[in-house]
Amino acid sequence: MLKDLLTLIPYIRRYFWTYVAGCLCLLASNGLALLIPWLTKQTIEHLQYVRQANELARPHLFAILILVVAAVQMVIRIGSRWFLLGNSRKVAHDMRNNLFAHLQTLNPSYYIQMPTGDLMSRTINDMQYVQSLVGPVILYVTSTLIMYIGAIPIMLSMSARLTLLALIPYPLFMVIFKRFASELFSRSKTVQERLADVSTQAQESMSGIQIIKAYVQEESQSRHFEKLSRNYFDSNIGLIKVHSLLTPMIRAVGAIGMLVIISYGGASVIAGRITLGEFVAFSGYLAILAMPTAFLGMIISASQRGLSSLRRVNEVFQAQPTITDTERTTPFVIEHGEIEVQDLSFAYPSIENGNNGRFALRNLSFSIPAGSTVAIVGHTGSGKTTLVHLIARLLEIEPGKIFIDGRDITSIPLAELRSKLALVPQESFLFSLTLRENISFGSADGEGSVVEKAARLAGLEPDISGFPSGLETIIGERGINLSGGQRQRTALARALAANPTILILDDAFSSVDTHTEEQVLKNLRQVLKERTTIMISHRISTVKDADKILVMEEGQIVEEGSHESLIQLKGIYADLYEKQLLMEELEEL
Ligand SMILES: Nc1ncnc2c1ncn2[C@@H]1O[C@H](COP(=O)(O)OP(=O)(O)OP(=O)(O)O)[C@@H](O)[C@H]1O
Ligand SMILES: [Mg+2]
Repeated sequence: MLKDLLTLIPYIRRYFWTYVAGCLCLLASNGLALLIPWLTKQTIEHLQYVRQANELARPHLFAILILVVAAVQMVIRIGSRWFLLGNSRKVAHDMRNNLFAHLQTLNPSYYIQMPTGDLMSRTINDMQYVQSLVGPVILYVTSTLIMYIGAIPIMLSMSARLTLLALIPYPLFMVIFKRFASELFSRSKTVQERLADVSTQAQESMSGIQIIKAYVQEESQSRHFEKLSRNYFDSNIGLIKVHSLLTPMIRAVGAIGMLVIISYGGASVIAGRITLGEFVAFSGYLAILAMPTAFLGMIISASQRGLSSLRRVNEVFQAQPTITDTERTTPFVIEHGEIEVQDLSFAYPSIENGNNGRFALRNLSFSIPAGSTVAIVGHTGSGKTTLVHLIARLLEIEPGKIFIDGRDITSIPLAELRSKLALVPQESFLFSLTLRENISFGSADGEGSVVEKAARLAGLEPDISGFPSGLETIIGERGINLSGGQRQRTALARALAANPTILILDDAFSSVDTHTEEQVLKNLRQVLKERTTIMISHRISTVKDADKILVMEEGQIVEEGSHESLIQLKGIYADLYEKQLLMEELEEL
C-alpha cells in the first residue's frame, strides 16, 4: 500500500507549494470557524454583564464582528478548495497523460492479453478515484484533523465531563457512516455500470442497424434495450434510497449531541458548573464537529477505493515494453533490405500454458535478397501474419533468428527498423482524420506531392476525385465511409508514403477486385523494383510474378520456388492454382 502511495510523490511534489497554500487556507478558515462559537459565548456573557451592571448593551458590534469573521472565513475556505481540489485535477491530468504515453510504448502483445474495456476503465474510472485521493481526501482529512485538534481543547477547557459525554457516540457514528459510504459507493458503481451497458447497447444497435434490419431483429433489440434501461432505472432508485438518508443521518448525529448537551449541559448551567455562554458555545462546537465526523467515515471509504484504484493504475505503469532498444542495440542503417531468417520457431504466449503455447511457426529458414519480391501463400492459420509480424518486430523474438542486411534485428535500433520497414496489415486501421492525414501518418512530412504520389500508386486517384473534398475529406464517423477496398488501398498509400526500404503487404488486396488489383500491381511494379517486398496473398494471380513464392502449412515452409517450378512440383501450390483457375472459369460463365 505504501509502495503505491509513494508513486504519487513525484506528481504531488510538482504542486507542493499550492498544497501548502491550500492547507494554510484550511488552517485559517477552520480557525475562524472555531472562533464563531467563542464569539457567541462572548456576546452572551456581554449581555449578561450589561444587564447586571445596567450598562449600555452593544450586541450589534458583536453581530458585525461575527458576520465579518464568517465572511472572511468563507473567502478563505473557497481558497482552500480552489488550491486543493484544483491540484487534484492537475495531478490526475498529469498522471493520465503519463499513463497514455506509457500505453503507447507497450507491445501490441500487451493489448492482446489485456482487454480494451479493462484498460479503458483503468485510465478513466480508476483515475477518477485516484483524483479523489489526491484532492478531496487530503482536504477532508486535514480539515477534520484541524477541527478536532482545535475544538476539543476549547471544549475540554469549558467542561471535561460534558465533552467526553458528548463525544462518546462519535466513534460509533464513524463506523456507521463508513458502512453507509461503502453502500453508497457500491450502488453508485452499479449505476455507472448499468449506464455503460445502456450506452454500449445503444451504440451497437446504431452502428449495427443494417444487420439488425437484415435479420429482422428490431423488436428483440428494443426489448433487450428496454431491459437494460429498466436495470439502469432500478439501480438509480436504489442509489437514491441510500443517498436520501445522508442528510437526515448527519442531522441525527447533531441531534444526539444536542440531546446530551441539553440534558446534561442544561443541568450544569443550573448548577452553576458552566456559564450560559459556555453552554451555547458548546453546542456550536458540537455542531461544527458533526459534519466532519460523518464525512470521516465516507473519507475512509473513499481512500480505500482510491488506493485500490491507484494499485490498478500502477499495474499498468509497471507493465514494461519488452520490445525496446537494449544494451545490445548499436547504431545501424538499413540500406539494402536483405532479409535472412534462420531456424525460426515461435509460439504465442498463452494464458493457460505460459510461454509454451502451440507453435505458430516451426523451424523456418529462408532468405530474401535485397530488392526482390517474395510472396507467401498458405491456408488460413498457417502462420503468415505471425511471420511478418516477427520480421517487423511487432512480436517479441529471441536474438539470432532474423537478420536484415546481415544484422540481427534485435540489435537494430527500433526507430531505424520502423522507419525503413512498412507493413500494410491484414485489417487496415484508419483514424477519423482526413484522407491526407491518414496517408501521411507514418511519414516525416505530409506536405506536398508525397501523399498525392502515394495515393496515385495505390490506385486511389479515381476514388478520391469522387470525394467531396478530395484528399481533405474526413473519413470515419465524422465523415464519409470508405469501402473495404478503399480502406485497404489507403493503408497501402500510407505505407508507400513512408518510402520504406522493406515493404510488407499482408493480404492487402483481399477486398480489392482482381481488376483493380492488377492495375495497382502494375503501378507498383516500378516502386517494388527498388525495394524488398513481402507479399502475402490468398490469390495466385497476385503472387505469380514474384521472384520467389513460399508456401506455408501449419507453421512450416512446405514448398518454395518460382510460380513455374511450383506448378511443376504438383503440390499444394499447384492444387491451389488449379482450384482458383476453375473458380475464375466458373465466374466467367
Ligand atoms: N495473438 C495470438 N495469440 C495466440 N495465438 C495466435 C495469435 N494470433 C494468431 N495466433 C495463432 O497462430 C496461428 C497462425 O496465425 P496467423 O495469423 O499467423 O495465420 P495466417 O496464416 O496469417 O492466417 P490468415 O490467412 O487467416 O490471415 C493460428 O493458429 C492462430 O490461431
Ligand atoms: Mg494473416
